[in-house]
Amino acid sequence: MYFKKVRLKNYRNFEKLSLELDSNLNIFIGNNAQGKTNLLEGLNLIIKGSSYRTKEEKEAIKWGNEGAYLFGEINKDNENIQIALSLALEKKLEDFYKNKLIKTIKINQNIQKKAALNKEFKGVVFCPEHLQIIKGAPALRRKFLDEQISQIYPLYYKYLSEYYRILGHRNNILKKEINQKKIKEKLLVWDPRLIERGSFLILTRIKFIKKINRLAHKFHQKITKEKENIELTYQSNILKDQEENIFLINKEFKDRLEEHREKEVEQRATLFGPHRDDFSVYINGFNAASYGSQGQQRTVVLSLKLSELELIKEKEGVYPIFFLDDVMSELDEDRRHFLLGLITEKKVQTFITSINLDYFNSNIKEKGRIFKIEEGKIINL
Ligand SMILES: Nc1ncnc2c1ncn2[C@@H]1O[C@H](COP(=O)(O)OP(=O)(O)O)[C@@H](O)[C@H]1O
Ligand SMILES: [Mg+2]
Repeated sequence: MYFKKVRLKNYRNFEKLSLELDSNLNIFIGNNAQGKTNLLEGLNLIIKGSSYRTKEEKEAIKWGNEGAYLFGEINKDNENIQIALSLALEKKLEDFYKNKLIKTIKINQNIQKKAALNKEFKGVVFCPEHLQIIKGAPALRRKFLDEQISQIYPLYYKYLSEYYRILGHRNNILKKEINQKKIKEKLLVWDPRLIERGSFLILTRIKFIKKINRLAHKFHQKITKEKENIELTYQSNILKDQEENIFLINKEFKDRLEEHREKEVEQRATLFGPHRDDFSVYINGFNAASYGSQGQQRTVVLSLKLSELELIKEKEGVYPIFFLDDVMSELDEDRRHFLLGLITEKKVQTFITSINLDYFNSNIKEKGRIFKIEEGKIINL
């Protein structure tokens, strides 16, 4: 799957842009604050229907305008598909953040929901902030896991939403109900549902972690020339080991809730379940979050992202589109070389932003297209 063309109008700092893209490698070069990340965000927005950068998508409309328009033509299985996305402010109010945004998605001229896009088109983003997958709080790792799994397994997304809805009801009872006996009675209504959905999430995450572990381990060995072995393990607060038995997970979940009922009432929160889980990454046996250097952590994330490409390819039959924002400068020459070699060998359509063209040798330059970005305009090199 690859972009053939992109057009942007009044999007971020691009007033008007129209580009023909390379099916394999596209490099965006430019100084700081010229629009490199904006362009990557825009391309991703076209295939995802939402921004990976902001929740306030109104911000993507070029300042002073009432709407933005994004268009992409994508080739998938030898078919050209056109996606058009418009972001429009319902009214132009004094207070920008009070404006309602109307987002319209069209696939081949038919209005569609975001879910239709997500089913058809896949993308993997790797940006500097993703270092937090290793260093950050557990919530960020859960978010990473949930996003990755949802992308290849739509049922997971459905169950995840249901789980959080049930959890919300349950926490509400714990927070609001005063009568202790009533709390316990009411919890009993929600527990079976929480356990059922929650156990499914735990099991799926364990399987996913094991799978990505095998792939990431191999990539990581290659990138580090066999110097580093990584290992990922899922940490459930319900299970001792990474069990793949749904009946056992169910049972353990139920036991934990029963054992800690008093404590939950006292603390007024649901203390066990996948919403409190985490995963750890080890490099040569040491926890990467505590002992890994920034470069090592970055490389782990790269290995995870490359694994994600493979998992999507396995599921969909085609590689997703790969977006690499500002990550070249943080990898040493060997690692950069490996990465670019892999992208060109596998013919994954990739968009790379960089301040410096020197990170790409002449051989690579011949394999793709290089665009220079200056103040929201493209200068073809
Ligand atoms: N809605 C917007 N309208 C106009 N300009 C914007 C908008 N959003 C961001 N920008 C501009 O885009 C610039 C950042 O572009 P970005 O793509 O992040 O830079 P870089 O090339 O360093 O990746 C900011 O300096 C800002 O001026
Ligand atoms: Mg940037």
